[in-house]
Amino acid sequence: MKSTRLYVLGRHGQVARALQEASEAQPDLVLGFGGRDAFDIADTDAVLQALRGFQPDIVINPAAYTAVDRAEEDAAAAYHVNRDGARAVAEASARLEIPTIHLSTDYVFDGAKPAPYVEDDAPAPAPAEEAQPQRHHGTDLEFTAGPSRAAAVDPDVVQPAVRR
Ligand SMILES: NC(=O)c1ccc[n+]([C@@H]2O[C@H](COP(=O)([O-])OP(=O)(O)OC[C@H]3O[C@@H](n4cnc5c(N)ncnc54)[C@H](OP(=O)(O)O)[C@@H]3O)[C@@H](O)[C@H]2O)c1
Repeated sequence: MKSTRLYVLGRHGQVARALQEASEAQPDLVLGFGGRDAFDIADTDAVLQALRGFQPDIVINPAAYTAVDRAEEDAAAAYHVNRDGARAVAEASARLEIPTIHLSTDYVFDGAKPAPYVEDDAPAPAPAEEAQPQRHHGTDLEFTAGPSRAAAVDPDVVQPAVRR
């Protein structure tokens, strides 16, 4: 059976580590990881080179500035990964025509919609989350970049016991 090759950005993050653990029971999955120790996620050429090297079937991008309480005073760092990094990953994977999943956050929606959210819904954060516009940029960018998809994931995805 042909194995499926997944390339995951953000090597040491919670989601990346959960994927690594889950894949151990899946012999047909081959995981590769890219981290900031290896290249700058906002450098499209560097991301392209990493993807060409690993030849993934699917790219998963959970890399993000997730320190919500520091994002306002550390905006440049947050924009670097959440906007510019998301753009570089989206551009590189679109250029290589590799389907890509970008993990975002359900905080880009205010929860007021009475029905489930769908891909076309415009980000509309609750007022308390407006200080994090970098997250919406990442979500928008991935939607507009070829075969990519953004996933605004629920807070309980990885660690059911921990509310983020
Ligand atoms: N965990 C959950 O249950 C959960 C729930 C809802 C949404 N999400 C979303 O899923 C995504 C991943 O969450 P997570 O819990 O895995 O976050 P995390 O543990 O904070 O990991 C974030 C990753 O992003 C990387 N990163 C941060 N700044 C970077 C930079 N400048 N350049 C390159 N990489 C950088 C980190 O790299 P290092 O490893 O080098 O530090 C880390 O691997 C986020 O968008 C989050 O909002 C997660």
